[in-house]
Amino acid sequence: TYVVTEDCIACKHMDCVAVCPVDCFYEGENMLVINPDECIDCGVCEPECPIEAIKPDMEPGLAPWIEHNRQYARLWPNITEVGVPPANAEAMAGQPNKLRDLFS
Ligand code: SF4
Ligand code: F3S
Repeated sequence: TYVVTEDCIACKHMDCVAVCPVDCFYEGENMLVINPDECIDCGVCEPECPIEAIKPDMEPGLAPWIEHNRQYARLWPNITEVGVPPANAEAMAGQPNKLRDLFS
C-alpha cells in the first residue's frame, strides 16, 4: 500500500485525490490519509503529489505513518473531489517536524 506522510500536513494539495481509481483518500483538517485496506497499490498518486508526500509503505522509517494512515482513515470522511489547498501551502512545503510543531 501507499501512505501519506508528514510532508502533507498543512500543504494538502489534493492532486492525489483526482487520480486515485478507488477513492481511498480520507480527509482531516490538515492532511489526507490513505485507507490501507482499500488502496490497490497502483502507485499513480505518488508522482501526482507536488511535494512528494506519498510514499510506498516499504520505504524505511515509515512505521508511525503507516499506523497514522490506518488509524485516521477509520475516523475521517472519504474525499473524492479535489478541494482548495490551504492558503499557506507553498510556504509550508518542506518544513521539518510538522506534526510536533503544529499539533503539540
Ligand atoms: Fe489510490 Fe493507487 Fe494511490 Fe493507492 S496507490 S492511494 S489506490 S492512487
Ligand atoms: Fe497531501 Fe500531496 Fe495529496 S500534499 S493531499 S499527499 S497531493
